Parts: sequence; structure tokens; C-alpha cells
Amino acid sequence: MKRDIYFAGGCYWGTEHLFKSIDGVCGTVVGFANGQGVAPTYEEVYTDKTGFAETVKVEYDPDRVGLPFLLDCFFRSIDPFSQNRQGEDVGTRYRSGIYYTDPALLPEIKAAFQRISKRLGREPVTECEALRCFYPAEEVHQDYLGKNPGGYCHIPLKTFRYVRLLQDLRYLLGDEQDEIAREANAAALIRERMGWFWVGFYRGIGDELVLGPFQGPPACQRIPFGKGVCGTAWKKKESIVVPDVEQFPGHIACSAESRSEIVIPLFRDKEVRAVLDIDSKSVGEFDLTDALWLEAIAALV
Ligand code: SME
Repeated sequence: MKRDIYFAGGCYWGTEHLFKSIDGVCGTVVGFANGQGVAPTYEEVYTDKTGFAETVKVEYDPDRVGLPFLLDCFFRSIDPFSQNRQGEDVGTRYRSGIYYTDPALLPEIKAAFQRISKRLGREPVTECEALRCFYPAEEVHQDYLGKNPGGYCHIPLKTFRYVRLLQDLRYLLGDEQDEIAREANAAALIRERMGWFWVGFYRGIGDELVLGPFQGPPACQRIPFGKGVCGTAWKKKESIVVPDVEQFPGHIACSAESRSEIVIPLFRDKEVRAVLDIDSKSVGEFDLTDALWLEAIAALV
């Protein structure tokens, strides 16, 4: 049995393109939701006086993709604190929102709100309402980015790469139980897809991090608890984004070529069991978007 959920995430071209790339999504329609009046045109909605939000109807097969996955992908693709604006698009028509036709989905939707609030330390301004009305947009807007590759998209390109990576990693790792095997394949797939300089895992053993499966040049074998970026992420139990390694006191330089990095903890029973360490040759490679997606990847590994 198919289900549906409606996402307003700014310009519907990008949001539709994102959900079309998710396995288990069987159909999408772009249109206008929860405004006043009947069957508005794009031009009418563009006046920003109709109260409609650019929205994507997402039909999905719950046996193939869970609503929590769709909701988390949505929250990672928007700025949940931005009122009536996503990217360069400004107006009430670009507000973020989740609209449901089945109130039974509400607990799962609320749980997703709680996850993102807890992670980011603030309540999203994203609306959560029952769908009152939805009118499909003109045909020219349907699958716009499919028909016009390279057209305007407010969602960063890397988000699409993360969505693919996350799904492919789930298939690749399957139900393999061995952590080393999972980490080894994860490091290989992440580096192959994203092209970063160094991708690998350090495992917490005693009071040190010990080098685990990795891809890239040879690296330091042991990092003490609390030392370097990796040891600090372990100690703080949180992801650390380092835009410029030279600005991070105590950074351990395994290679002079590494210019920025991100470290994500992997948890077991609320304790850090390992960290995922990724290095780039470019300054400023990573930001909060990377942290959120890589945390989902780390949780999978
Ligand atoms: N730079 C890391 C050490 C590990 S290498 O980047 C592979 C750190 O300071 O924790």
C-alpha cells in the first residue's frame, strides 16, 4: 500500500529532484499547498499573496523506504531555521513545511522534529500541518530538473551525492556483522564517491584511538584520548568540522597535504566506539551539511 507525504522545502524543483532520487519513492508531483483559493497558477502564487507554499507530493512504498528516512533527508536538505526563505528564494511560498493526509503519521513526523531540534539545539520554524489542499503546478514545472539538467537548484549538489551514497552504502554493507568489514567498505565507497584525500576509521581501544580501515596515504597509527581533532571528537562525543587545520590547536598532521577535515563519532551504547575521519586538500571543504549526512552514514556503519 502506497502512502503519501507533502514536503515544502523552498523551490520545488530541487526538492522534487531530491525525493525522486530516493529508492522506494514511487511518484512525485510539484504543486501548491495550504493556501487560499482554488487551483492557483504559478504567477498567482508568485505574487506571494495566496498563502500557498511550493510543495512536493511524495508517494512512497513503506515496505521499501521508511518515513523517518524521508523526513531526515528532508530536514538535512533545508535550513530549518529560515523563515520564509530557502537559499536565494524568499517569500511565504518558500516557507518550509511538512503536510500530512494521514494523522497516524504524526508521531513519526514529531519524532523527526525532535531529532533535528536535539541535534541543532533549536526548534525548527518548519510548519507541520494537515494538508488542507494541494494543486499540481503546470506541466513545465513537473520533473523540471530531470528535463533541464543543470537548471537552478537551491539544494547543494553534495546533498544529492550524500543521498545516493547513503542508500548505496546500506545495500553494500547489508547485514554484515563484522565491524572491520563494514568500516573497510564504507571507507572505500565514501572515498570513491566523494573523492576526498583521506577517509578512514580510528577505533577506541583503551585510552587511545587506533588506526582502522582507511583509504588514502599512510596515517598516524595511534591518537591519545582528547588529542588532535579525532581525540577531541571522541572526548566531546560530537562531530568536529575543521575548516582550516592550521587554525585547530593540537591538530595532528599526518600529511602536509591535508588542509581541512571533519571527524564524526560512531556510537555503541551511547559510548564512542570509533571515529570516522575525513581529510580534504581544500580549505573549507566541510560544513554542517556534511556533518549531518556523515552522521547518518556513521550511524549506518
Ligand atoms: N588529523 C587528525 C589525525 C588523523 S589524520 O588526519 C589521518 C587529528 O588531528 O585528529
